[in-house]
Amino acid sequence: MAGGWSSDRDVVARVKAAVDIVDVVGQYLTLRRVGRDFLGLCPFHEERTPSFHVSREKQLFYCFGCHAGGDVIRFVELKEGLSFREALEELAGRAGLELPPVVPGDARRAARQEAVYAALEAAAAFFVDKLWSPEGEEARAYLKARGLEEETLRRFRVGFAPRSWDALVAALGSRGHGPEVLGRAGLVRRTARGRAYSLLRGRVTFPVCDERGRVVAFGGRALPGGEGPKYLNSPESEVFRKRAVWYGLHLAREAIRRAGRAVVVEGYLDCVAAHQAGFPETVASLGTALAEEQARLLARFTGEAFVAYDADAAGQAATLRGFARLREAGLNVRLVSLPEGRDPDECLRADGPEAFRQALQSALPLVEYLFQTATRELDLASVEGKAEAVRRIAPALLGERDPVRRDYYVQRYAHVLGVSDDAVRTAVNDAARQAPGEAATGHKPSDYRHNRSDFPPGRGNTLAQRRIAPEERKLDMAEEVVLTHLVHGGAEERRAVWSRATPDWFRPGPARELAEALAAAEGAPGGGPPAGLGPEAQALFARLSLEEAQGPLDRRALEDCLAVMAAHRVRRRYRERLREVRALEAARRPVPREWLVELNELLREMRTIGASQGVTR
Ligand code: UTP
Ligand code: MN
Repeated sequence: MAGGWSSDRDVVARVKAAVDIVDVVGQYLTLRRVGRDFLGLCPFHEERTPSFHVSREKQLFYCFGCHAGGDVIRFVELKEGLSFREALEELAGRAGLELPPVVPGDARRAARQEAVYAALEAAAAFFVDKLWSPEGEEARAYLKARGLEEETLRRFRVGFAPRSWDALVAALGSRGHGPEVLGRAGLVRRTARGRAYSLLRGRVTFPVCDERGRVVAFGGRALPGGEGPKYLNSPESEVFRKRAVWYGLHLAREAIRRAGRAVVVEGYLDCVAAHQAGFPETVASLGTALAEEQARLLARFTGEAFVAYDADAAGQAATLRGFARLREAGLNVRLVSLPEGRDPDECLRADGPEAFRQALQSALPLVEYLFQTATRELDLASVEGKAEAVRRIAPALLGERDPVRRDYYVQRYAHVLGVSDDAVRTAVNDAARQAPGEAATGHKPSDYRHNRSDFPPGRGNTLAQRRIAPEERKLDMAEEVVLTHLVHGGAEERRAVWSRATPDWFRPGPARELAEALAAAEGAPGGGPPAGLGPEAQALFARLSLEEAQGPLDRRALEDCLAVMAAHRVRRRYRERLREVRALEAARRPVPREWLVELNELLREMRTIGASQGVTR
């Protein structure tokens, strides 16, 4: 399961012992003491009355509103959008602990990289200083003319690289960042004689940061009338892989969470301008073709990408493949239609934030966007036009994972084009055969099962909400009561459970996962909280732990619930066996005698526990 706990339990235990969940959570929100626990406004969904509980004693959190829950590492994972390992490292760092490297050699590499990060950070500070010094006057005037305010520029740490060839080398050198490190950071190049000179000169600088906010590269924009290409970017380096970063993500991540979407633009200035105009959930791709890693990174923060590229960029094949990657990472892709030839920055300047908001509101799913473009560009009255239109939208239809919606689009486009549904379906199948997983929005079959459980909570996915059939609801309650006994009960209650049941009495899913972990913890020396849980099982554990046990634990209730689970289990086995027997009978093949014996036994068992209703179907 995604986000599982590291197998290295010692490390995890040490980090958890070194921090207090109340302190960590308290850095993000205000907590009030209520009884033994702490209460606050949930940071994972909008609420006015607090339902977010934190327990110092148990070192767990749980929101009774949106059902987010888990331990301190899970909290940092969710809040910072980090992977398990990254959250662990983050907490270790805050506690001043040093983690053993994952792979031998990592530690040395990390130490070497620190010098590069430090140089990049120093360069960012140097460029900012220059922008606000007399030397930066022209650059300041230019940025002002483009409508950017000082507050915005400071937030993005926009700077100015002076015209001098060696000012950066000299300034950073005096602070201990030598030319060798500057070279590795991509900040300088060397002449044939080995003299280091600055790559960016006389340019406005945009520091590119990783999602944690560490500077990894720079983009430099020429001033009007300046030499060379409009933008010069740092080369890839040991800390900068272009396909792994989004410009502005470290500033946008919180807003993306809050807004439930990311706005994806192309350029540095589009991103900066969008933030200033009130769209802080914006990130820039720095070029049009998106990489798989970028897609996966963004998918850690949201399930919705609103792409606002200028019109001709959006139509290109490389761009479309990029959208397919977003899709494959589990993001819904919507395209924002901008007036011909304009980028978001120009739209915002010309028409204002309201118009941009409107454009976002009427963003189209990728299929629709492609169809509308085809409608505009092709002659749909001709057979060739129809064929081409079907060919263009087929890969996007293939990428539509919701079968109902796919059917709807197929029928509508068939209708509009005046062709049969079958013709469109055939084209979709052709697209599937042609390039499995590589079509414009194609995806591998496994994408249908894309695991969303790692995404922020708040989507209302508790056990109780998902299963509504009465039998299921009864089982939900029974499993909960038994788990409650395991979580809150003493050794005696736990023995009462495990003397009768095994973890496989629980239905597959978070409940069984938790039961298995609790059973394993029982056997482990020292016991302790269950380890290795996936996000859903962790949230379940947190909820059960933080819920007030409803009065003293009730042994009678426990017996009843175990009986309900036992009955369900027998019933399920009976049904399964019966189905197998019937299949053999239908195929006129002999039924093993043991099977019939087992069926009879199961039937007898069901009678004694009164579980026989509803199984004679
Ligand atoms: P654009 O040409 O659309 O520039 O390139 P822009 O962002 O709108 O900038 P302004 O508004 O003209 O100042 C989009 C992005 O493509 C990359 C940059 O990341 C840029 O932000 N690019 C563009 C380069 O890397 N080099 C270039 O020469 C041009
Ligand atoms: Mn622009």
